Amino acid sequence: MNKSDQNVLVDSFGRHHDYLRISLTERCNLRCVYCMPEQGVVLQPQSHFMTREELVHIASVFVKLGVKKIRLTGGEPLVRKDVEAVIEDLAKLPVKLAISTNGVLVNQFIQTFKKCNLKAINISLDSLREDRFNLISRRTYFEAIINNVELLIEEGFHLKLNAVLMKGFNDDELIDFIEFTRNRPVHFRFIEFMPFNGNQWDWSKGFAYHEMMDNINAHYGATVVKLEDCKNDTSKSYKVEGFKGTFAVISTVTNPFCDTCNRIRLTADGKIKNCLFSANETDLLTALRSGKEIEESIRESIWNKKSTRGGMETFEEFSNKDLNQKNRSMINIGG
Ligand code: GTP
Ligand code: 5AD
Ligand code: SF4
Repeated sequence: MNKSDQNVLVDSFGRHHDYLRISLTERCNLRCVYCMPEQGVVLQPQSHFMTREELVHIASVFVKLGVKKIRLTGGEPLVRKDVEAVIEDLAKLPVKLAISTNGVLVNQFIQTFKKCNLKAINISLDSLREDRFNLISRRTYFEAIINNVELLIEEGFHLKLNAVLMKGFNDDELIDFIEFTRNRPVHFRFIEFMPFNGNQWDWSKGFAYHEMMDNINAHYGATVVKLEDCKNDTSKSYKVEGFKGTFAVISTVTNPFCDTCNRIRLTADGKIKNCLFSANETDLLTALRSGKEIEESIRESIWNKKSTRGGMETFEEFSNKDLNQKNRSMINIGG
């Protein structure tokens, strides 16, 4: 296998990349503490972002190179003005479409999702307590989001809920989150707090996979069952016997899953990130605008992907601010 093989994006470690995450915008209607730097982010001029036509063109090149799944992210993807048209255009490509959203606006897009066969929806839900949720998100949309979660369940969407678990913020809700799956067919995922530019990361706030499982096992005992994970899953899945839903942990800090990584990111300003933690980026949009071919740049970028977390292999490297602050902030990456 080499980097010029047709219809497959391969890196030097032999990993195949068929999952593209496209950020539609750097804007968001929430201000979550673990994502948005306290001072906010400087918005780039509109001309720096991909237009709908550019975005769809770049996506179609990725599809030609073997991408089979596209997830829309942000910022908050649903605040982009032409999001409906973007989804409709992408739905014409032979890919599975998915979206990660904060849930505030999803009720306005149910018909679009249905029409475009977009069934996989991931929503961030960091607390089930209104006052706390609003503190973490620095906005007051809890009720709208919970109503939308129930609406998506009623409408039969394939729903995953994401909670970034942080000590002293929401770690005491772990069992409440699992109880939420007792009568609802949702998949609740608990994410270890990850370092990004400006998010005040410090592992003393982190809640590790093994600590979560210790608490869960102490509460539910032998009724906790390990489920089989899919090949490229970022999460380790479980369920409590008899519950309608399931739960999982995304353990980037304590148990990275990079050896099975199949993900590529395209930022709203048209740059490839070959890893969530890559400090290097490849500017496809500028190349496209100057009439250049982008296929070779895409292959080159993927080929050069580092083995683990953008080159931060050990916990010590990953915790080192000189290394982990070189990346963008999460709002500018797109999750
Ligand atoms: P699926 O497509 O359903 O597997 O969802 P997902 O987990 O890829 O997407 P989502 O946007 O819901 O992300 C949930 C959490 O997983 C976020 O904190 C992401 O940053 C993290 N995550 C997603 N993809 C990657 C990845 O490639 N590497 C790492 N380390 N974390 C990831
Ligand atoms: N650590 C872990 N997950 C994060 N997300 C955003 N910032 C972080 C972080 N610092 C998650 C959001 C959303 C997903 C796309 O990324 O909670 O669910
Ligand atoms: Fe892939 Fe990078 Fe995430 Fe590891 S940290 S799974 S290499 S995107």
